[in-house]
Formats: sequence, structure tokens, C-alpha cells
Amino acid sequence: MKFRNTLALFILSVLSFSVSWTTAKTVDIDGFLQCLTKYSHAHPIQEAIYTPQNASFQSVLLLHINNRRYSTSTTPKPLAIITAKNESHVQATVLCAKHHGLQVKIRSGGHDFEGLSYTSDIPFVILDMFNINSIDVNLADKTAWVHSGATLGEVYYAIGTKTNVYGFPAGLCPTVGAGGHISGGGYGVMMRKYGLSVDNVVDAKIVTVKGQILDRKSMGEDLFWAIRGGGGASFGVILSWKLQLVPVPAKVTVFNVTKTIEEGATDLVYKWQTVAPELPKDLFLRAMPQVKNIDTKGNKTVAVSFIGQFLGQSDEVVALLNERFPELGLQRTDCHEVRWVEATVFWAENPVGTPIDVLLDKPTEPATFYKGKADYMKEPLPKYVIEALWKKMIEIENIWVDMNPYGGRMSEIPESATPYPHRAGNLFFALYYSSWYDEGTETTDKYVRLTRELYDMMTPYVSKSPREAFQNYRDLDIGANQDNHTSFEVATIYGRKYFKGNLARLIRVKTAIDPHNFFRHKQSIPPL
Ligand SMILES: Cc1cc2nc3c(=O)[nH]c(=O)nc-3n(C[C@H](O)[C@H](O)[C@H](O)COP(=O)(O)OP(=O)(O)OC[C@H]3O[C@@H](n4cnc5c(N)ncnc54)[C@H](O)[C@@H]3O)c2cc1C
Ligand SMILES: *[C@@H]1O[C@H](CO)[C@@H](O)[C@H](O)[C@H]1NC(C)=O
Ligand SMILES: *[C@@H]1O[C@H](CO)[C@@H](O)[C@H](O)[C@H]1NC(C)=O
Ligand SMILES: *[C@@H]1O[C@H](CO)[C@@H](O)[C@H](O)[C@H]1NC(C)=O
Ligand SMILES: *[C@@H]1O[C@H](CO)[C@@H](O)[C@H](O)[C@H]1NC(C)=O
Ligand SMILES: *[C@@H]1O[C@H](CO)[C@@H](O)[C@H](O)[C@H]1NC(C)=O
Repeated sequence: MKFRNTLALFILSVLSFSVSWTTAKTVDIDGFLQCLTKYSHAHPIQEAIYTPQNASFQSVLLLHINNRRYSTSTTPKPLAIITAKNESHVQATVLCAKHHGLQVKIRSGGHDFEGLSYTSDIPFVILDMFNINSIDVNLADKTAWVHSGATLGEVYYAIGTKTNVYGFPAGLCPTVGAGGHISGGGYGVMMRKYGLSVDNVVDAKIVTVKGQILDRKSMGEDLFWAIRGGGGASFGVILSWKLQLVPVPAKVTVFNVTKTIEEGATDLVYKWQTVAPELPKDLFLRAMPQVKNIDTKGNKTVAVSFIGQFLGQSDEVVALLNERFPELGLQRTDCHEVRWVEATVFWAENPVGTPIDVLLDKPTEPATFYKGKADYMKEPLPKYVIEALWKKMIEIENIWVDMNPYGGRMSEIPESATPYPHRAGNLFFALYYSSWYDEGTETTDKYVRLTRELYDMMTPYVSKSPREAFQNYRDLDIGANQDNHTSFEVATIYGRKYFKGNLARLIRVKTAIDPHNFFRHKQSIPPL
């Protein structure tokens, strides 16, 4: 605490200080590529390098772009993509890029909301991790080593084909990459029981700016703390994580009950806000409002899906909810008892019974344009605010909101245990997510503007000073630097929203491990 105060003072005193990079007038991409070849003689790297001259450059670029907003003709493109196949390729990319003054963007699953893993406004290369994706599940000690390029779907599949009684708490979307997801916190439907992904990581391997490979023991507890929620891309390249698997029952129960405004959704959501965070840890009950057509004349309503997972049997959860939340009217026939891995298939919005191989499916290019923003709620929203939210959603139309209850294990873990500070005191957190298919810039401008309007409308009713934000739901509206220029003052704005009081320690770790700020992006942690 004492250290923190001193550091805070120091930060204030250097607030006006900032660092800029002058880009070499001619970027030496050829020198960089030659350096790679020279450095990688033990593991030939030629087959891993794509430049715009290679026919498949564009398709490899698109393979891990999730948001079409960052895949337009005006989006800056990399000078090269290095699809590392071995740790030594990662080391070579870091050392050669440093030597030749190129910026490196690290990409695992490419699901960054704002495309920071594959765009930059200064010359850059992509270090693509998707080939380094093996998973080694060890049931003897209930752990799994997972390489960064693995997707969550691959992780769930690897666990689920070996056991029915262990799982891992991570996100809902199977194509999200372990590299970005886990370094940014990682929440999912078991967070009320087991916390976030980062609360269940026991070791990791990272390539530093010096090209060294460190594990937990050799990196030390400060850096190991920082990469579990502080974002990997400020500190180095994460190669792999060692996950602690968590026990789950052989069958879990899932359900999805939807009610429209006309069927009482407003009162249900009003009550849900205080009921869901107080439920037993074994039960996660999300509320997901989305806009729905009532008729063919264009009349619309909001339909709220109450989607649940209970680490137990259906009789028990029906009895529990009929006592705590009878208005929902949950029935046994709404419930499906499935294996944990099948529940991950259900949460990815597949019909119950879909074979688990679907977890391995991967798109070849982005599907939609989108804008996401997130909020943490400490007080219940008054009914008139819920009604105003419905009205705004109907105006936007192509939007849904994910409301995820807190409480349980999330409230027990101290704010400083990991860089992710949003713990006790939250009722729920909400993602506002609008998406569209039309590529016109006017359409994009319209949805971005409307999503910001919704966010502004919610200001009085959500967390304040700072208005907290979730780094995995990256939002450049909350303060962002330029790729060629890191201002400490700007970093403090987004840094406090993402990390609250943990920012000072993150800055200290950054200063020790990467003092010249090689690993950087628009919302990275700056060194002192
Ligand atoms: C459809 C969808 C659903 C989502 N659902 C959830 C959810 O349920 N729970 C949740 O918590 N989040 C969720 N997210 C957010 C997601 O966890 C983050 O976007 C996460 O950062 C994505 O990781 P990635 O590897 O796919 O992304 P990338 O775009 O590859 O990377 C994201 C960031 O991490 C950095 N990074 C990537 N790999 C490495 C590495 N190996 N070493 C160092 N830095 C690295 C990148 O440079 C970038 O800054 C979702 C996102 C989408 C688009
Ligand atoms: C950074 O780049 C922008 C253009 O992208 C330019 O306007 C600005 O002057 C640059 N800043 C520095 C410090 O070089
Ligand atoms: C890209 O083209 C270069 C030059 O022809 C070649 O050496 C390299 O192997 C190609 N990359 C891949 C991945 O095929
Ligand atoms: C990289 O090569 C080394 C030595 O040849 C090998 O031990 C290691 O498993 C390889 N890594 C990957 C990710 O294939
Ligand atoms: C549906 O739209 C029509 C025409 O706009 C309107 O007259 C009608 O009242 C609407 N119905 C509902 C249920 O809102
Ligand atoms: C729940 O139901 C809604 C409404 O039908 C649907 O849009 C959503 O995909 C379903 N979610 C899951 C996880 O099944």
C-alpha cells in the first residue's frame, strides 16, 4: 500500500511526460525477413512467412479477423505475417523486429473487439500464433498445458474427450483464442463457482523482449501476476498457459427461457438483478435481451432470454428457482441434463444434441461488423431505466445485451489478487453489442453512434469514478493512444477503468520487463 501511494505520486509528477517513436523513413522489411531466416536456421522459417507477394497472404490475414470493421480497404495491412510454428520463430520475430524498428502485433484468436492484434497506424508485422496450438491434458494432476494459439473450443474438446468430471472456467465463444482471452481475464458461465480463467492458471511460458523464454519460476511472481489479466501484449508473447482443471458433475443442467416485454420481461429483469447475484454458486443465470419482430408490419419488442447453467440436476434447479424466482416459471421440460463439454456447445448457441466436433469449427473470414461496450452495475436499474433501455434497443434494432450476474466466488477474490479488479460490489456486468452486415461507412457510423448513445444514456446508473471497463471487451472510446505515441496521461484514463488500483503495479512490472516499450498498442500499459 505504501509503495502504491509513492508510485501514484510519482505517476502524477510525470503525467506530462510521454514517449514517441520516430518511424524510420524507409522501413527495412527486407532486412527483417533476412534476419528471420538467419536467426531460424534450426527450424526453417521460410514456410511460415507471408508477405503481400504470397498468393495466400490475404486469406491468412482474414483467417483470424473477427470484426469486419477492421477488415476494410482502408484498414492498414501488415508488411508480413509470421505464422510461427515453433517457439524459436517467436523469438526470432521479436528480436529481428526490435533490431529493424518494426512494430509487432501478436495475434492468437483475433477476437479483439477493436482489431488491435492485427492493425496499427505505423508499419507493422503480425506474429500469428494459430499454429502453436497444442493442448496437453494431464488427468493425473488435473492440469492442462494449453498453447496460446489454441481456441477455447479446442480446449473444451480436449478436456471433454478425456473426462466428464473436470472442466475449465473460460468464455462462451469457441473461436476465441487462449492467448488473448486468458491474458485479459476470461469470464464464463462458471465464474460464480470458480472465478475467472486467470484465477485458475498455475503456470505460463512467455517470450520476453530480450527473446528469453521464461516460465512462472524464472519470470517471478510480479510478471506472472501481470499477465493474468493485465493483457499479454504489454509484456511479451505468451506461448502457453498451465490450467488447473476444476471439478464438475458428470451431468450439468442447462436451460433457456425467453419472455417478451408483453410476457412480463421488464419485471423479470428488475427482479433478476437482485436475485441472480445471490443464487448459490453452482447456478449461473444470464439475462440476454434482444430485439424481436412481433409481426410482419415492422412492430418490434424486446425478448429476454434467461439462460442458465446449474452444476447439478434439473430437479434441484427447478425447485431452487421456483422458490427464489417463481416469476420465471422454470419447468423440468425447459431443462437439459448434459455433459459439461456439451454445455459448452449449448452456450455457443447450438441446439442441444449437436455433436461436440462443432467446437473445432473455424470460420475462414469475419462474418459481421460490430461495436461492443460494457458496464458494471453496482445498484439495480430502476424500472424506468430498464424500459428506456428497451426503447433504445428497439431503435437500434441490431443489438443485444448480455447481463452476467456476479456474486459467489467473484466476490470472494480480492481486487488485487490479479490485475482484473472488478470483484465484490457488483450485481452484474453488461455487454452492449450491436452488429450489422452492410459494409457502407454510413451504416457503420450509424450503429457506432447509436451504441455510444445507449452507453451515454446508462451513465447515471452504472459504476462511477472510474466508470469501469473490461479489457477483453476492448473499447477505444474510453481513451486510446496512437501506435506511434504513448501518452502516460491517456494510458492512465483507460488504465484506471480496466485495472483500477492495480494499474500502478502493472506499470511497475512493465517498466522492469520492457522499459523501452517494444510491446505496445493503443491501450497498452506504459513504462515509467
Ligand atoms: C464473439 C466473441 C465472444 C466473446 N466471448 C467472451 C467471453 O465469453 N468471455 C470473455 O472473457 N471474453 C469474451 N470475448 C472477448 C475475448 O476474450 C477477447 O476479445 C480476447 O482478447 C480474444 O482473444 P484472442 O486471442 O481471440 O484475440 P486476439 O485479437 O488475437 O488478441 C487480443 C489481444 O491479446 C493480445 N494477444 C493475443 N495473443 C497473445 C499472446 N499469445 N501473447 C500476448 N498477447 C497476446 C493481442 O495482441 C491483443 O491485444 C469474446 C469476444 C468475441 C468477439
Ligand atoms: C503519429 O502519427 C500521426 C498520423 O498517424 C501523426 O499525425 C502524428 O504527428 C504522429 N505522432 C508522432 C509523435 O510522431
Ligand atoms: C512466400 O513466398 C516466398 C517467396 O516466394 C517463399 O519463400 C515462401 O515460402 C512463401 N510462403 C509460404 C508460407 O509459402
Ligand atoms: C520447437 O522445436 C523444439 C526443438 O526442436 C521442440 O522441442 C518443440 O516442441 C517445438 N515447439 C513446437 C511448438 O512445436
Ligand atoms: C403494429 O403496427 C401497426 C401499424 O404501424 C399499428 O397500427 C399497430 O398498433 C401495431 N401493433 C402493435 C401491437 O404495436
Ligand atoms: C436462447 O434463446 C434465444 C431466443 O430464442 C436465442 O436467440 C439464443 O441463441 C438462445 N441461447 C442459447 C445459449 O441457447
